[in-house]
Amino acid sequence: MTLDELKQYAAERHIPIMSDSTRQLLYETVAAVRPQRILEIGTAIGYSGVVMLSASPQARLNTIEISEEYASIARSTFEQYNVSARVNLFVGDARDIVPQLTGQYDFIFSDGPKGQYEAFFPYLTELLAVGGVLVCDNVLYKGLVENVPSDKRHKHITVARNMRAFLDDLTSDKRYSTVLHREGDGVTVSTKLY
Ligand SMILES: C[S@@+](CC[C@H](N)C(=O)[O-])C[C@H]1O[C@@H](n2cnc3c(N)ncnc32)[C@H](O)[C@@H]1O
Repeated sequence: MTLDELKQYAAERHIPIMSDSTRQLLYETVAAVRPQRILEIGTAIGYSGVVMLSASPQARLNTIEISEEYASIARSTFEQYNVSARVNLFVGDARDIVPQLTGQYDFIFSDGPKGQYEAFFPYLTELLAVGGVLVCDNVLYKGLVENVPSDKRHKHITVARNMRAFLDDLTSDKRYSTVLHREGDGVTVSTKLY
């Protein structure tokens, strides 16, 4: 399958994958950074993983996915693109796995559970090498982050609040230089300065 066919496959099955604008930004950012070690939270079916690995042919990818079903499709995707040898796929809850990770990454793509970005942030900062880049998708969360609903019963309110706290922390953190791309659902690109 080509990347566009993979996108179509995901759309037909309502599997969430990044938007075209995020795909382009991710490809260009990875191609500019040329990381050796990439960490991804939220593999889904391997679409973003293939994009990152093709943008940095020397890179290795550690990627985390909670759904066995998606992970099994991702394995086929990685095989089909001949990148399996460069991928470690962790199947489980990123809330358990992220705190156990060690070592250093020079690129991190955060695209897993949207209510957990704030909780993952200290761990990801520890794992990211100085000069490394952290990319976070969906940071404007359906427009709700800049316009948090007042109705407490709103089903997305907790996620929107958590994401708001994360975005405030990230953009005010002096260790990072952050650019917020507002296209789509909002993507941040943050370089760790020290
Ligand atoms: C937006 S999708 C990832 C899309 C993928 N990065 C792409 O663009 O091709 C988010 C993924 O995170 C996974 N996920 C949700 N909660 C998770 C958790 N607690 N731990 C690990 N993965 C989780 C979902 O199953 C889903 O596949």
